Amino acid sequence: MVKVAFIGIGKIGQTIAYSTILDGLVSEAILYDIIPELPEKFEHELRHALASRGISTEVIGTNSLDDVNNADIIIITAGKPRKAGMSRRDLFVDNAKIMIDFANKLPPRNPGALYIMVTNPVDMMASVFMRFSKQYTISTGDQVETMRLRSYIAKRLKVPVNRVTGYVGGEHGEDAVVLWSTVKVNGKPFEEVAKGLTKEEVENYVKSIPGEIIRVMGGTTWGPGTIIKDIVRSIVLNEGRVMSIATPRVYEGEIVHISVPIVVGADIGPSLEAALPEADRQRLNKAVEDFYRVYKENLDHLLQTIKQ
Ligand SMILES: NC(=O)c1ccc[n+]([C@@H]2O[C@H](COP(=O)([O-])OP(=O)(O)OC[C@H]3O[C@@H](n4cnc5c(N)ncnc54)[C@H](O)[C@@H]3O)[C@@H](O)[C@H]2O)c1
Repeated sequence: MVKVAFIGIGKIGQTIAYSTILDGLVSEAILYDIIPELPEKFEHELRHALASRGISTEVIGTNSLDDVNNADIIIITAGKPRKAGMSRRDLFVDNAKIMIDFANKLPPRNPGALYIMVTNPVDMMASVFMRFSKQYTISTGDQVETMRLRSYIAKRLKVPVNRVTGYVGGEHGEDAVVLWSTVKVNGKPFEEVAKGLTKEEVENYVKSIPGEIIRVMGGTTWGPGTIIKDIVRSIVLNEGRVMSIATPRVYEGEIVHISVPIVVGADIGPSLEAALPEADRQRLNKAVEDFYRVYKENLDHLLQTIKQ
């Protein structure tokens, strides 16, 4: 059992905290946000839910980062969300400034913590946070896309979702790449069972559905909330599930985060990238190059803004 800090208690932060704490994965939870009273009132809500389940997790809601101490895992969801029509990358500068502030304040109080980034653009925010904090940081990356992919194929081909396997990799969002060599239905390659369902239709769904949910519901919560809880679960219980999350690698001298299927347990790794066929590996290499190009542009712009 571990101490987990939830940095940001908005829509997705609440959903992740609720499912992680109610799953009994946490011995102590710290809820932090800048909105006055929000963490404290959410603390009461969670305590009531925990009382009903008979779970005695210690929960502390706070508006002070000074109370975020000695956490084993720190999940960051604080920042601006996307509005309808906005891309995740539009959020870069505003959210990166918040990450730099956290990068200065969180590590001295939380030695050895594992950081899990959720704030968008999530892979770039993980790279920014790790660059400035020097702390090991993972991004929830494409595990969310991976589950969107499996759910859509299961629905369209009318098969139980646990009969669909496969991963999405690359950068979270519009540039994610479906790793088609990994996609199987009842153990058979996608092409053999597709029955008129095209790869294009599946890819379109994976990339467009979050925007559609944001347009109508104001944000994505329940899907990513559960998927991110399962990432935490695999780490805390050392389940060793293979998940498509983004871990740090160095490219052209910068830390970059790109998702590939990787074993997620008490330790993160090994990655299954080397076992993928050449075509998928090439698409991942291209994703790293594209990520770096856009990230570097944004980072240089950010560094200029900070100097002024
Ligand atoms: N990675 C994913 O799969 C995924 C899924 C959903 C949302 N997100 C991202 O998560 C972020 C939050 O989304 P949301 O829908 O919960 O938004 P939200 O507006 O509901 O919540 C954001 C919270 O962050 C808080 N906050 C902002 N600046 C802060 C600061 N400096 N210190 C502390 N708290 C601060 C706000 O007060 C608010 O409560 C967005 O960037 C969104 O795009 C990522």
